[in-house]
Amino acid sequence: MRLHPRRCIRNFALVIMFLFGTFTVTKWSGRFMKMPAKLITQEPSLVESNAADLGHAAVSLTADKHALSRNLDSTATKQYRPKQLVSSPNNPRVEIKLDRLPSRVLVLVYTFNGNEVKWVGENREECNLDTTGETFVQCPLERFEVTYDKQRFSESNLVVFHSNNMPDKGQLVSLSKSRPASQRWVYHTMESPRVTPDPGSLGELFNATWTYRSDSDFSAAYATYVALRPEQKAEAVTGDFAEGKTKLVAWMVSNCGSQLRIDFVRRMQKYIDVDAYGRCSHLLGKKLSCSKSQERRCLKPYKFYLSFENALCKDYITEKYWEHLGEENIVPVVMGGLEGDYKALGIPGSYIDVRNFKSVKELTDYLHYLDRNSTAFNEYFKWRQKYQKSPYHYPLCNFCRSYVLKPEMSRTKIYHSLSDFWVEKGKCGQEDQVIRRMLGQ
Ligand SMILES: *[C@@H]1O[C@H](CO)[C@@H](O)[C@H](O)[C@H]1NC(C)=O
Ligand SMILES: *[C@@H]1O[C@H](CO)[C@@H](O)[C@H](O)[C@H]1NC(C)=O
Repeated sequence: MRLHPRRCIRNFALVIMFLFGTFTVTKWSGRFMKMPAKLITQEPSLVESNAADLGHAAVSLTADKHALSRNLDSTATKQYRPKQLVSSPNNPRVEIKLDRLPSRVLVLVYTFNGNEVKWVGENREECNLDTTGETFVQCPLERFEVTYDKQRFSESNLVVFHSNNMPDKGQLVSLSKSRPASQRWVYHTMESPRVTPDPGSLGELFNATWTYRSDSDFSAAYATYVALRPEQKAEAVTGDFAEGKTKLVAWMVSNCGSQLRIDFVRRMQKYIDVDAYGRCSHLLGKKLSCSKSQERRCLKPYKFYLSFENALCKDYITEKYWEHLGEENIVPVVMGGLEGDYKALGIPGSYIDVRNFKSVKELTDYLHYLDRNSTAFNEYFKWRQKYQKSPYHYPLCNFCRSYVLKPEMSRTKIYHSLSDFWVEKGKCGQEDQVIRRMLGQ
């Protein structure tokens, strides 16, 4: 890897800032005995009492960094926008240990699904490690390299295999004979177990998983959200989001296969107007179409959007929920994941979960109520004063985070049964009866 002088200076500066941060925290930890000095995530904001006072100190610290990073990188056209992660039960405060990350990580993409992947942003975008959003400690993405060159197998740290393009068992076994002990094989997919080949025969070969499931070693979550910073809060859009809306419920559907959700929407149509767009709209009586590029415009007149996944599986919440949280100003009515998944992964107050109703009729009554009461409707947009959808996290960022944040990444790990992890724990269909019950089936 070439050493870029500017990058060297910046890294040096980061180390200095890092040390300064640690020093400052250590100083604070003297005041607050419970804080172990070694954890750089022990942020002032974590201390419940005196939070305001210390929060102020943290802000000035970050402001310095802000100025510094601008001075060092005057060519950067992109505004420096530190990202914050929200502490949640799923995302506990974790220890940041940069020394867990090897000095160089070569990722060999052995098979993939054919789609082109953006492994990292144009300018090796920031990859914030801090779960409190106060220090802006960045993961050193420059240590990562991606290759598709199988000749480099033996020097690779991570070897990625895509679930749908898996070499056959014999090939994998023979390949595994020449693998270095420290190499990790990564099982990857973004789809649900419903549509991925059963990995039942792939035991004892893989060391890591990279899927949308939150218990994967590497995250491939479709999206996530972050807290707004104080100055962004001031800019948050408020107002009447019901204004200008002329229609009620829209659904965009191209996969006609999932009968349960089609039954559900048909039942909804008994009580409320649902406009279905897309390849399967004929199943719902009306044939409406809207090209992908026009989706936002098509959805704008509606108050609600059906974000129904094609399978109910653990953590399976896709772009169907995430992609229309913007200027369309519609409220997603969600059906996906399992009990509690939207609560754990979605933005609080941003959606209506069908599971919270006893019947389809009760759900549509509620939608009618929100249609009449714009105060209640507008409550579904309050989250915008607190959070924003997080920018896409590039895969190298997610890899980097895991190395640094997860202690198990420095230990041996073997998936004795991938089928247990992927199919059993994926739990597809196990809660379908909740939806059936709403339908009176
Ligand atoms: C409308 O919604 C608001 C907020 O949820 C609620 O306080 C109010 O009682 C509702 N009004 C009616 C007429 O139901
Ligand atoms: C990865 O899995 C292989 C095969 O099960 C095992 O021999 C190896 O020790 C594992 N490596 C790591 C780093 O976990």
